[in-house]
Amino acid sequence: MGEVIESGTLDGIASTTVKKLHKAGLVTLESIAVTPPREIVALTGMGAETAIKVNRLARFKVDPGFVSASELLEIRKHMMRCSTGSKELNRIMGGGIETGAITELIGEFGSGKTQICYTLSVLAQRPAEEGGFGGRVCVIDTEGTFLPERVVQIAESLGYDSNEILQNILVARAYNSEHQIVLIKNLPQICQEHDVKLVIVDSMIGHFRGEYIGRASLAERQQKLAGCLGNLLRVSEAFNLSVVLTNQVQSKPDVSYGDPNKPTGGHVMAHACTHRVFLRKGRANTRLVRVIDSPYLPEEKIRVAITEAGIVDAEE
Ligand code: GTP
Ligand code: MG
Repeated sequence: MGEVIESGTLDGIASTTVKKLHKAGLVTLESIAVTPPREIVALTGMGAETAIKVNRLARFKVDPGFVSASELLEIRKHMMRCSTGSKELNRIMGGGIETGAITELIGEFGSGKTQICYTLSVLAQRPAEEGGFGGRVCVIDTEGTFLPERVVQIAESLGYDSNEILQNILVARAYNSEHQIVLIKNLPQICQEHDVKLVIVDSMIGHFRGEYIGRASLAERQQKLAGCLGNLLRVSEAFNLSVVLTNQVQSKPDVSYGDPNKPTGGHVMAHACTHRVFLRKGRANTRLVRVIDSPYLPEEKIRVAITEAGIVDAEE
């Protein structure tokens, strides 16, 4: 996907440079635009100045900075939405999860974050006419909780070929935050090669919280997190795909003021995510869902249910 560069696509760039980019798998404008010059140097062996120039030209071609509002509208027309499995949840999300945006699922353990991820990794593969993205799914699993058996169960309950569904989900286990950062940096190539339309990171913050302990390391942690989130947002825009992250709430029973169910990741997380979806346990298999801090979605609370077929509407 995206425009494949040839010599001549980027003004003033030698054909030998273009060959080096191709050899490193950087064949489209989008992938060059989202790869930092430092990495272009590491991947291709070209000089830093050339890498900076190549990256800047590609970025300008992909996104010339200011665009007219009518162009913006045109871009938004290409935005796609994927069903979550629940009509009610789709409704409060404006039709489903969006491409070109980061959607954050927030909730305590067992609130259904991973269950929504499973459901989306099946539904995103359906063609657009059936409420999907018609593309592949890439999962970065930081907790080792992604079970293919559950995907099979959901796919088969919905009447889909589970082998085909499994084939089209690429799973990477991130063992620590540095590994997670590397996997996220490699996304442009993966997304380009495999026509990925949904990227899931479950969970986004787990490793960071576990590794950076104490006030002294907080700034460094937040900086790394911001870098990761920036990469994810660029990938979502450059490839018109949807990014879904999960985030636990930190319970602070010791504080007597404020909300004890605060999402982790602080302002960095709050600002990077386009839509924040808050999940809370309800009766039996039901979950209460609310969209918080959205630029244009209403803050309405609805109920969904977790079933064999994944996330569905809760019965009244
Ligand atoms: P953490 O990852 O621990 O933060 O939690 P989470 O929010 O990811 O929770 P998850 O999505 O894993 O939800 C777990 C809940 O889903 C369990 O408590 C079960 O109630 C429910 N669940 C999991 N599998 C099934 C299933 O096959 N059928 C049904 N009906 N419910 C399921
Ligand atoms: Mg989970």
